[in-house]
Amino acid sequence: AEALRIALAGVGTVGAGVIRLLSENAALLQARAGRPIRVVAVSARDRGKHRGVDLSRFDWCDDMTEMAARDDVDAVVELVGGADGPALTLARNTIRSGKALVTANKAMIAHHGLALAEAAEAAGVPLKFEAAVAGGIPVIKGLREGAAANLIDKVQGILNGTCNFILSTMEDTGRDFADVLAEAQAKGFAEADPTLDIEGIDAGHKLAILAAIAFGSRLDLDHVSCEGIARVRAADIARARDLGFVIRLIGEADVEPDGSASRLLQRVRPCLVPDNHPLAHVDGPTNAVVAEGNFSGRLLFQGAGAGDGPTASAVVADLIDIARGERGSPFSVPVAQLEPMAPAEPGDRRGHTY
Ligand code: NDP
Ligand code: HSE
Repeated sequence: AEALRIALAGVGTVGAGVIRLLSENAALLQARAGRPIRVVAVSARDRGKHRGVDLSRFDWCDDMTEMAARDDVDAVVELVGGADGPALTLARNTIRSGKALVTANKAMIAHHGLALAEAAEAAGVPLKFEAAVAGGIPVIKGLREGAAANLIDKVQGILNGTCNFILSTMEDTGRDFADVLAEAQAKGFAEADPTLDIEGIDAGHKLAILAAIAFGSRLDLDHVSCEGIARVRAADIARARDLGFVIRLIGEADVEPDGSASRLLQRVRPCLVPDNHPLAHVDGPTNAVVAEGNFSGRLLFQGAGAGDGPTASAVVADLIDIARGERGSPFSVPVAQLEPMAPAEPGDRRGHTY
């Protein structure tokens, strides 16, 4: 069978992981995809940079936004990042060229996912972004396909590996915030701009995507309220521990009845989680998502939320789906009409379940 030919934009933490995975698991992937998955072209900023992977077999493209126009490319994998800029131009060019798009870019999907999904639908091409939420955990597939028969009215979880790594490491070791953040950056967990992690914005991007998938509602980033972990001090963590709690950055989306309408509350904030709650034992760069289905009951998804291997695993799973002929995007036709709820004020306990 003919190979699925890939252009890979971005050869950083995740991009290098994808190249390694495609090479190490090539035989298994070919068997599962029904055909080889082969990188033909790559692009990044600095051609001379040492990346720990051999790029000599691939064509180098100086202008990534033109990769989709190549005749020898069937699918583009965007691993650059940024809501706008070259990532968005490349995404639009890819769909316009009738090629498949896979991305791990939650900022771009949270801001532009609906428009991209509509364009992909109209062009009849796949748009896939499993890696954009919770790294290696197949939570988009899990909710969209595995829990498809359920009405879900609440989804919550630990959606940022960097913040969870910082909070749990500070708790275990007493190390200082800046020192642990530097380690998260060195390990490739943090965003290029780590304030997106620390301020809860990255978790907000993921929450908006997750809520749209879980509730079948329209993606609504504008009404996500975000509070990050910058003000959490070592003393707060120690005091919480004395009282039988841990502090975790929790993203939570709730559908609440309001007369004849239903409203959606979406927020990210540091929470006191009691020691006996499953989310209290999620440490390091691990993520976890809890959803309540009306027939399935409580579903708990847990695994590595950041890092090269886990994220590459989700990206390549999307490529397998595309190689097998899957079309469309995880944003199905919206079914739930949800009005936004007024942003939460400090101390507001709506949706608080601990
Ligand atoms: P990195 O910063 O490690 O890599 C980004 C890559 O994009 C680099 O190769 C960089 O080039 C290239 N790049 C950046 N800006 C430009 C530009 N303007 N023009 C051309 N190339 C550019 O990021 P990650 O691999 O960590 O993340 C990639 C994407 O995956 C992001 O959207 C991120 O949010 C997402 N993601 C990351 C996860 C993680 O654990 N790291 C997990 C889940 C999603 P160069 O190397 O030459 O500088
Ligand atoms: N910076 C993100 C995190 C990467 O720490 O969770 C995974 O999306």
